[in-house]
Amino acid sequence: MYHLFFRLAFRRMDAEKAHYLAFRWIRAAARVPALRTLLSAALAPRHKSLRTLAFGREMSGPFGLAAGFDKNAVAIDGMAMLGFDHVEIGTVTAQGQPGNPVPRLFRLVGDRALINRMGFNNDGSAAVAARLAARRTVFPTTVGVNIGKTKAVPEGEAVQDYVTSAERLAAHADYLVVNVSSPNTPGLRDLQAAAALRPLLAAVREAADRAVTDRRVPLLVKIAPDLADEDVDAVADLAVELGLDGIIATNTTIAREGLGLTAEPALTGQAGGLSGAPLKDRSLDVLRRLYARVGDRITLVGVGGVENAEDAWQRILAGATLVQGYSAFIYQGPFWMRAVHKGLAARLAASPYATLADAVGADTRKVSS
Ligand code: FNR
Repeated sequence: MYHLFFRLAFRRMDAEKAHYLAFRWIRAAARVPALRTLLSAALAPRHKSLRTLAFGREMSGPFGLAAGFDKNAVAIDGMAMLGFDHVEIGTVTAQGQPGNPVPRLFRLVGDRALINRMGFNNDGSAAVAARLAARRTVFPTTVGVNIGKTKAVPEGEAVQDYVTSAERLAAHADYLVVNVSSPNTPGLRDLQAAAALRPLLAAVREAADRAVTDRRVPLLVKIAPDLADEDVDAVADLAVELGLDGIIATNTTIAREGLGLTAEPALTGQAGGLSGAPLKDRSLDVLRRLYARVGDRITLVGVGGVENAEDAWQRILAGATLVQGYSAFIYQGPFWMRAVHKGLAARLAASPYATLADAVGADTRKVSS
């Protein structure tokens, strides 16, 4: 049904307008108690076998919403209602900012992909922190908070910009993500180089510890799929050295070649980050490489081109404890999470592994032993 609706309605609309329309519906439904109970029961049936422990939290499953969909933390319960086991909000920057001029979101329908150059449009960390503080939890889901750099802030002051957001948001985060991998803020991805990343992550760690003294807020870094293999290894080593809790692999790609894209050049040539199906192989490769390097010392989150239960299962076997998606949700709609959960539970039951945790990294371990 959603596919028909997508073809008849959403596909004819501007991509960003369709996003906000769907977003409004989700938020509205989540505000009506009877409706949200009904929708949650229909769309998010729980599978006990998928229960996942990550970052010291028990989650209903491993499958979450990637950053960028709910940038301002306005739809956490709505997304949990639809079946996501965790919701990563943001990217949030220290100062609120409008992002890039529209159009800035493009659908490559035949490729099951998106290109975006949103540019971190968000309300800013003070406003988002206030919203999170005032939130009355309906669905007790895990909330990740993803932070990035304000565009107007010079690169030399980037660390302080992240620190400001970390201080404001850490108290409201079940885990905190330092995003250094979006292609739409000039210079941001240069922060992935170890020499820049080390002081940044150390400063954010200290800021989170200053802001929250009664628990240790888990800290993660999110990386790009376009890093050279040596740079992936360097981030992995740095994460271990600094005692980071997790790495999210990956963000969108600036690559266009070799991805088998079929859309016309007017679309593929749009500046921005490409997400969805064409990203699948590279994101999986990066994840495998990370797991081979860090093993179980750091929790890995697999994202990029996950379209179905088989993809999610492959990420887990490759080393991901948590899996996230975004683009496939746009194409597949509200029944997507239910299908992924069902398929994952079936795969686990048919596998030699007693629990999902046992399956994490099993393929990568096999190859490297
Ligand atoms: C994103 N993504 C993203 N990531 C992030 O860390 N901060 C952000 O603000 C955004 N914003 C954003 C906007 C849009 C429109 C898209 C499509 C994506 C990246 C996202 O979280 C994810 O890493 C990639 O999209 C790859 O996953 P999928 O989409 O292939 O499942």
